[in-house]
Amino acid sequence: MTTPKFDQAFWEQLWAKTLRERADVVAGRPPNARLMAETASLPVGRALDAGCGHGAETLWLAAHGWQVTAVDFSATALAQGRAMSDAAGPDIAGRISWVEDDLAAWMPEPGQYDLVVCLYVHVAGSVEDMVRRMASGVAPGGTLFLAGYRADDPRSDADAARGNQVQVSVEAAVAALDAGEWEWVVAEERPRVVAGSGVDAVIRARRRA
Ligand SMILES: C[S@@+](CC[C@H](N)C(=O)[O-])C[C@H]1O[C@@H](n2cnc3c(N)ncnc32)[C@H](O)[C@@H]1O
Repeated sequence: MTTPKFDQAFWEQLWAKTLRERADVVAGRPPNARLMAETASLPVGRALDAGCGHGAETLWLAAHGWQVTAVDFSATALAQGRAMSDAAGPDIAGRISWVEDDLAAWMPEPGQYDLVVCLYVHVAGSVEDMVRRMASGVAPGGTLFLAGYRADDPRSDADAARGNQVQVSVEAAVAALDAGEWEWVVAEERPRVVAGSGVDAVIRARRRA
């Protein structure tokens, strides 16, 4: 099996194919249940959705009053997100800034976001560096919410297909952040709903004020 590189060209092609063949499924996909459960009660403010894809979570945050910066390096995914936010009306669309950029180098404005979200993004370099970069955007008292996927069986096709790229893990997130500066609210692996379909690393941390 050839292992894909999860680079911009890969994602751009995948988004173009997915939207061509299953636009209705994409448009109907609900926002991430873990994000909704963990952040619904937070006071709204500025949010960053890093690796936003077509923006299901971005739209949900904006609909709940967050001012959202949504970053992805797939222009096709961002165009879909923009179209969906326009369709949702000017209140929601007006609360979202769509940014096409590469998270491998892109830096959030330091300490400016009350919530930084990064869900299921493959990391080509160091996961700990990525976690620290995302965390640098969180304002004092704000929240960092990360999720990463891991197949149950490390020998499975799903894991093999990932090649040398990984998603965030609990160990890497805990190692990346200074316990004096961050309070862990959630840092654990949670199984997916369908048995045997893998686990999510779920990380929710609050930056001490
Ligand atoms: C598995 S999808 C997850 C999308 C969304 N966060 C979600 O939970 O549905 C990963 C997304 O991250 C984006 N992505 C991956 N690596 C990236 C990078 N280095 N810079 C910007 N976006 C990236 C991809 O284009 C894709 O939209």
